[in-house]
Amino acid sequence: MLPKHNPTTTEAWQKLEIQFLTLQASHMRELFAEDPHRFESLHARFEDILVDYSKNLVIGETLKDLVALADEVELKDAINAMFRGEKINQTEGRSVLHIALRNRSNSPIVVDGEDVMPEVNRVLQQMKTFSGKILDGSWKGYSGKAITDIVNIGIGGSDLGPYMVTEALRPYWKNITPHFVSNVDGTHIAETVKKLNPETTLFIIASKTFTTQETMTNAESARAWFLEKTGGKGEVAKHFVAVSTNEKEVTKFGIAPENMFVFWDWVGGRYSLWSSIGLSIICTIGFENFEQLLDGAHAMDNHFKDEAFEKNIPVILALLGIWHNNFFGAASEAILPYDQYLHRFAAYFQQGNMESNGKSTDRGGKPVTYQTGPIIWGEPGTNGQHAFYQLIHQGTKIIPCDFIAPAISHNPIGDHHDKLLSNFFAQTEALMMGKTLEEVQKELAANGMNKEEIALQAPFRVFEGNRPTNSILFRELTPRTLGSLIAMYEHKIFSQGVIWNVFSFDQWGVELGKVLAKKILPELTSKEEITSHDSSTNGLINEFKRLKSV
Ligand code: F6P
Repeated sequence: MLPKHNPTTTEAWQKLEIQFLTLQASHMRELFAEDPHRFESLHARFEDILVDYSKNLVIGETLKDLVALADEVELKDAINAMFRGEKINQTEGRSVLHIALRNRSNSPIVVDGEDVMPEVNRVLQQMKTFSGKILDGSWKGYSGKAITDIVNIGIGGSDLGPYMVTEALRPYWKNITPHFVSNVDGTHIAETVKKLNPETTLFIIASKTFTTQETMTNAESARAWFLEKTGGKGEVAKHFVAVSTNEKEVTKFGIAPENMFVFWDWVGGRYSLWSSIGLSIICTIGFENFEQLLDGAHAMDNHFKDEAFEKNIPVILALLGIWHNNFFGAASEAILPYDQYLHRFAAYFQQGNMESNGKSTDRGGKPVTYQTGPIIWGEPGTNGQHAFYQLIHQGTKIIPCDFIAPAISHNPIGDHHDKLLSNFFAQTEALMMGKTLEEVQKELAANGMNKEEIALQAPFRVFEGNRPTNSILFRELTPRTLGSLIAMYEHKIFSQGVIWNVFSFDQWGVELGKVLAKKILPELTSKEEITSHDSSTNGLINEFKRLKSV
């Protein structure tokens, strides 16, 4: 079981509040000027990943107190409880074992008296065999042709992870083109199948519950499209496979048991890309590359489990996040990959983070009295620079940013990558250093501007600086590195949830809307005027019905 501590009542929290009062009045410029070795003491390495966290408004003492906070709320015990397979997802009575899916040491992990590893390995083997047949062309469609395209139909964790990873690992693609359909908006499936040949397309229906409205609606439409296009000749069994924990519903849909890839209730939806939900990844990049992804995650799992908090990268990132969120009042965090292949990385961790820690009830069932999970957003650099960085540099809000970049590009064209990285380095430097009024005045004078004009212009060109960033720099975006990076963020989120005293592995907040939508659906086709809701909802539904009938 997880410990239940209100973090704000710890001794460390009180010390941090005092530190905050002093530190908020200082500037990182001064901290760098006072300590020329600041980078040396405030960075961490993991394999070929460097995490520089020196551009945050912290000193050694702050980190000591933040680590003391982690100790006081018994983070270490919580980590051990997760790795031991304890049912730390208490509100659903489940273990939390995405770490078992990439447990490359194969050491036993026991749930309800049974080692889960043999089953994990069995399904991995099943995926290896299946993906092998898809990739070598020996899996034939109904007309005897090999598969060229796969369509993953899923949503949330059953879509975001596979989509993000396949995009991130495009340089490792083999001979299959993946497509992803998630939105229940008919446009998504319609536009996707338009370019596909049913004879050479395989649909992977990915849903933990196999009851999710969006996924089941898209799956039915995909099957209808397939049967229509093949004039009823198409064999569903050769073109539809399922990934789920719900064998009963999969069978009901008409998918043969041998074409079903299971996973288990101890795999959270947003942590499921490592399970059979990763089937679309495997069919795209091959099983060996998927194993590399698992290896990278496993290595990060070991680092997280064994490393002292002072050197533990996910823990350090978690603590810095808490420092910004709870002391500086930073409501959001930006994830800014300087790698086009990572264009879905921020979107992926929007679910990973916000569905996990977007909670306001503590583990004792009481409302929290402090801020919990931040808003996560971001876009790849340098596009973001020309869109929203203005606000990060000169706006009124503090937005801690993670800058992420590889040293080596998969596409070394001319000097593109040096240009990209020069922006990466320049941005974090500018965000930290800023530009003082004096500097601006000097610069304008050197450009020949007169005094009056300088007085008018200078205030707008001042950058306060002192904006927090982490820089995450690694050699190359390989499956192994990507695995480590994803696991790093997963464990950051876990650590923060433990410290905030919330349950990070349920998502009751998405239920209410789902239930109401089910109630509203029949009202949209009924003849009567709708009066059962508040006046706004009634008004909107009635207007929708009027508009679609004229
Ligand atoms: O959005 C809620 C949620 O339950 C997510 O946690 C999950 O990833 C998604 O729906 C999809 O669920 P399923 O895999 O059961 O279709």
